[in-house]
Amino acid sequence: MSGKDESSGDGPAAWWDERYESEETPWDTGEPQPALVDAVAEYGLSGQVLDIGCGTGTHALWAAEQGHPAVGIDISERGIERARERAADRDLDIRFRVGNALDLDADGEAFETVLDSGLFHAFETEGHAAYAAEVGEVLRPGGRLFLVGFGPDAPTDFGPVPMVPADVREAFADGWTELVCREAVFETQAMDVPGLLAVLERE
Ligand SMILES: C[S@@+](CC[C@H](N)C(=O)[O-])C[C@H]1O[C@@H](n2cnc3c(N)ncnc32)[C@H](O)[C@@H]1O
Repeated sequence: MSGKDESSGDGPAAWWDERYESEETPWDTGEPQPALVDAVAEYGLSGQVLDIGCGTGTHALWAAEQGHPAVGIDISERGIERARERAADRDLDIRFRVGNALDLDADGEAFETVLDSGLFHAFETEGHAAYAAEVGEVLRPGGRLFLVGFGPDAPTDFGPVPMVPADVREAFADGWTELVCREAVFETQAMDVPGLLAVLERE
């Protein structure tokens, strides 16, 4: 997976870079989201893992510590720098790349598992289909996407767009089997937010 350097300019990459530089990153608890930990305990973690929208790499680090080859991609160069530092501190061999989840440029690389903490919910509705298409391209048949984000009861003045189950069902209607879509907690540094957890299997 080559990834693309989209971290320059005034677009979303610059906005996310600024968040990491100013440390205004309430999502970055440093620990894997418990909803993902629970879902993985239930459905299993297999093969090579992609942490999509990895930020400082928490979920890639978590997967690698369980013995899985892991890759992290994020549109923010600052996030990726921090992720690389954290992997080096823990002596973990993880490939972190700057890249756009809506244009993965995967170069044939495939994964058995994709972990998404807080990326899908960062897109407006029009980004959902593109996201599902890109993830569908890199996930092997039978591979699983675990995603968690703000749910229907989340505050609307906090940043991300709360997800409702219909968003997930619409985005993953074709070529995916929904294993679960349920209410969950999305932890932030400030508070626990009502979230939504989904596990989707690529057909
Ligand atoms: C809410 S943060 C979650 C970060 C990380 N997953 C975690 O749990 O700490 C969302 C992340 O998605 C990244 N992001 C936003 N748009 C992206 C895109 N189009 N492609 C890749 N990453 C993106 C941001 O830079 C940010 O790191």
